[in-house]
Order: sequence, then structure tokens, then C-alpha cells
Amino acid sequence: MKEIPASDVDLFTDEALADPYPLYRELRDLGPVVELTQNGMYAFPRYRQVREASGNWEVFSSAKGVMMNDQINSALEGVTLCSDPPEHTQMRSVLGRPLRPERLRELTPRIEEEAERVVERLVRQGSFDAATELAEHLPLTIVSEQVGLGDAGRARMLEWAAATFDAQGPMNQRTRDSFPQLDEMVAFALSDATRDTLRADGWAAQLYTAAEQGDLPVEKCPFMMIDYIAPSLDTTIYAISSAIHLFARHPEQWNVLREDHSLIPHAINEALRLESPVQRFTRVLTEDYDVEGYTLPAGSRVVLLYGAANRDERKYPDPDRFDVRRKPSDHLAFGRGEHVCIGMNLARIEMRALFEALLPRVGRFELLESELALNNTLRGLGSLKVRVS
Ligand code: HEM
Repeated sequence: MKEIPASDVDLFTDEALADPYPLYRELRDLGPVVELTQNGMYAFPRYRQVREASGNWEVFSSAKGVMMNDQINSALEGVTLCSDPPEHTQMRSVLGRPLRPERLRELTPRIEEEAERVVERLVRQGSFDAATELAEHLPLTIVSEQVGLGDAGRARMLEWAAATFDAQGPMNQRTRDSFPQLDEMVAFALSDATRDTLRADGWAAQLYTAAEQGDLPVEKCPFMMIDYIAPSLDTTIYAISSAIHLFARHPEQWNVLREDHSLIPHAINEALRLESPVQRFTRVLTEDYDVEGYTLPAGSRVVLLYGAANRDERKYPDPDRFDVRRKPSDHLAFGRGEHVCIGMNLARIEMRALFEALLPRVGRFELLESELALNNTLRGLGSLKVRVS
């Protein structure tokens, strides 16, 4: 039996979170699976294994949690993200109803109208923070409106969303600091966002209707409402601002897109590939598993490094280069398989609407200042000051 390569890199220091890519390369070079001695788990840093694991829920189970610390994994057991079929299938089929393509088609004009409005205002302003003023507006407006919470909770939603993803790290200070906010979000879902306070035709109210019809146990509803608010904000916000950041640093790529708007979906995929907002989730093996001659024992926790897989040179030639003509539609930024992101079409529509509004109005993004937002799971910018011309 081959000995599994081990590494003592810590992917969660400030330096590593700020620039994980050299470490990812180091891990990819070590092998298709690496033991992370600091975290007591295995990692898949290459594209092939992350893709295979995501598509194989029978062996790579989510039911024992997909995070990196035991406390959060046991607290979240049974939520959509942390369950396996058939329980998962039942929740997902209800959760996905308002996110189906035909429902999103009805919502698209509203998203486009809001994108036009925010872009028009900011471009007139000349310089702005693309991470806050631009990127936050659309996801926050559309999600709070559609979920049907009204203004309730809106002010705290972004903090809760960031805390949700910080809480998923190994038990470090960032993780510990996030728990009080997580408790606050759960208390809000259980006590404030109740059936009688929710907008009758909103996504959250539809969950309660499904429960009344017997499609779902009613106690799942508050947690499934969280499925709409926690993973839908920072993920998309970071995707938008990272894309703008890439275009600010590569103006020639913006020019290519300006000349050919049909490349917008490919540019979105390329930005998601290069700066994947969700950097990792974990799985637990239900049986022994062989990876190119290395045997991982049943019960092992394996972290799927999406951010490393999406820059795997075995899959994408010259992987660190931003190229809107690349067309990497098979990237793993939304995961794959049973748990593939249920909101990916919404995220794509929001991003496309913003780019369609920006392209005719902006010739160039001049980068003034930027700052990363360090998070245990997410990658993105806290601030991105640009001037547009
Ligand atoms: C660019 C934006 C987004 C990115 C990069 C992203 C990323 C991901 C990833 C990687 C997964 C897979 C999890 C796994 O395999 O364990 C996932 C699942 C999920 N996403 Fe997203 N997401 C985004 C936007 C959204 C939005 C807008 C929503 C809600 C409207 C959403 C809701 C969810 C939910 C509920 C799951 C769990 C699905 C399941 O377990 O079946 N996400 N997302």
C-alpha cells in the first residue's frame, strides 16, 4: 500500500487565506490526495478527484457535515447541505421550486431593472466601491425581496452570511468568533421569520405551504429559509467583485468582452474558476476508497479544495491566466452532483445582468484600492475601489 503524502501547511492563516494559490500548487504537486496534518483530514487538491468525489454521494457522504470542525458539523446535521438522499432529495426538491429556470425567467426583468439602476447611478458617480456599492446591491435586494422577509433581518443578513462560512473552518479564532452571529441568525429564523410575518408569496412562505401539503416536516422550514439567505449573498457578491477585480487588472480582457457580448457567460465561468467564492467543503467516506493506489479508510474526512481543483494545470493549461475566451464550463465553483449549487442559475443571472449594464457604459476600470475579506471558507474582496471611464 502506498503511503499517502502528508503536508503540514495551514490553509487558514491570514497569509494563506490572502494567497492560497502557491500552497494549492504545492499540494497538487504532492499527489492526488494529501494528508493535512494540521487539520487531521485528507485533501483532494486536483480537479479529477474533486469532480469524482462531488459526483459520488454514496461514498462521499455529506450526512456527517461538510465543514471542518465537529461542533458545526453536529449542529448542522440534517440541513440540506449536510444530508444524503433520500432525505436530501426531498428537501432539495422543495427548496429548488422557486429557483427553477422557468421561475427565474419571470424574475429576470426585475433583476435587470435593478442592475441597470445601480450601474447607472454608480457610473454617473465616477468612482465607487465595487465590492460594497456595486456587488452587494443586487443579491441583497433580490434575495430579501424574494424570500419575503421584507426589511426584517436585511441589515444583519450580510454579517450572518459571512459568519456562516467562517463557522465552517477548523476550530480557529475566526471560527469561534462567528458562533454568536450564527446563533443570532438561527434565533431570527426560529422566532422572527415566522409564518405570519413572511410575505405570503415569498420563497420562505412557500416552504411552509409545502410543509402543510405534507411535502416536508414543518420543523425543517426555518433551516431551509436559511438555505436561501446564508449561501446566496457573499458567494455571489464575491463572485461579482472578484470578476471586476480581474477586469480592472486585465483591461484587454474587458475590451474583448466589450467587442463580443456573447462571451459574457464564458467570462463569468472563467472568473468563477479563477477566484472560486467557495474554496472548500468536506465529505466523510462511507467505505475504503482508492485514489491512484492510495487507500483512504472508511470514516475519513476529505476536504474538496474547489479553489485548487479549478487551477489544476492537469486540467486547465496555464491555469493562473485570466482568459475570457477559455470557456471552462466544467469548473467546480458550484460543486457537482447531488449537492450542486441550487442557486447557481440565480447567481449567473445576477452576474450577467450587471455585466450587460456595465459593458456599454464602462470603457475601463481603474483600480484605486482593494482589500481582501478573509474568511475560513470564502474567497473575495471586502473593498474594491475603482474609477470608471
Ligand atoms: C456565485 C455564487 C455561488 C457559489 C460560488 C456557490 C457555491 C456553491 C457550492 C460549491 C455548493 C456545493 C456544496 C456541496 O457540494 O457540498 C453550493 C450549494 C448550495 N448553494 Fe450555492 N453558490 C452560489 C450561489 C448560491 C445562491 C444564489 C443560492 C440561493 C439562492 C445558493 C444556495 C445553495 C444551497 C442551498 C446549496 C446546497 C445544495 C444542496 O446541498 O443540495 N447558492 N453552492
